[in-house]
Amino acid sequence: MNDTNTQVLVLGGTGKTGHRIVDRLLARGVPVRVGSRSAQPPFEWEDRSTWAPAMRGIHAMYISYYPDLAVPGATDVVRALAEHAVFAGVQRLVLLSGRGEVEAEAAERVIRNAGADWTILRASWFNQNFSESYLLDPVIAGEVAVPAGGVPEPFVDADDIADVAVAALTEDGHAGQLYELTGPRMLTFAEATAEIGKALDREIAFVDVSPNEYAAGLAAEGVPDDVTELLMYLFTTVLDGRNSSLGDGVQRALGREPRDFYDYAWDTARQGTWDRA
Ligand SMILES: NC(=O)c1ccc[n+]([C@@H]2O[C@H](COP(=O)([O-])OP(=O)(O)OC[C@H]3O[C@@H](n4cnc5c(N)ncnc54)[C@H](OP(=O)(O)O)[C@@H]3O)[C@@H](O)[C@H]2O)c1
Repeated sequence: MNDTNTQVLVLGGTGKTGHRIVDRLLARGVPVRVGSRSAQPPFEWEDRSTWAPAMRGIHAMYISYYPDLAVPGATDVVRALAEHAVFAGVQRLVLLSGRGEVEAEAAERVIRNAGADWTILRASWFNQNFSESYLLDPVIAGEVAVPAGGVPEPFVDADDIADVAVAALTEDGHAGQLYELTGPRMLTFAEATAEIGKALDREIAFVDVSPNEYAAGLAAEGVPDDVTELLMYLFTTVLDGRNSSLGDGVQRALGREPRDFYDYAWDTARQGTWDRA
């Protein structure tokens, strides 16, 4: 495949993994289309009339489902998307999946059987949850309180996911591969929080709350019920130790080690992301 003559659609192209993929593709001179509600043409998961215009002339597509492949109905939507994609002539599908999610594995099977080349990126919890998502405000406020129960998790960096995605979207040799993407070591949420505190040179407290306390806290903050439900599922079902092992996807796809949480914490601290206003 000629890298420079093929257009890539990045669904979720303004999100944590997507914007990194878009930046990398543009830097390589690969023509890119962002797939999101704010893009032109817009892509909206809930409005299928937006799908065909977004896929027109697309060779390869990165699929980051929102909010999560584990939510009810996600597999059916992904199946419909894959059918649209193959009909539109998309030849390569790269799916971002979640490690330890039974429902995500159903979506993986849909992509594997869609009739296009496929690569699955089955990722563990992102480092960037602490800096670009629901744990950003708690870190800035100085206290992370989640029902994590001391379970070790091999947090993976969104930059590594983006590097693997770009390789799968633009290079040969990744079709038919399922990459388990993790960081190089396991950390509990308490240990990860402590590493961030060290990088910031200020104490960030970690509180291991019960699931009920966590849900009540989210409700008090006005977090919508469906988001609360998803976070509860991730913390109580997925974070039960099933993912407490290292994957080798970054090494297999890129021939290098994944980024360590230490480097993520220190680089992010240096950038001022967690500075108090
Ligand atoms: N966070 C983790 O630890 C973790 C771990 C493993 C897997 N994952 C998976 O990662 C995926 C999320 O990827 P991400 O974290 O890179 O994205 P993200 O940061 O959550 O960003 C969401 C993206 O989706 C777009 N979007 C939101 N609602 C949309 C809608 N209704 N229609 C079309 N686009 C919409 C957003 O753009 P607009 O707002 O412009 O539309 C944005 O580009 C999920 O499937 C999750 O299961 C996450």
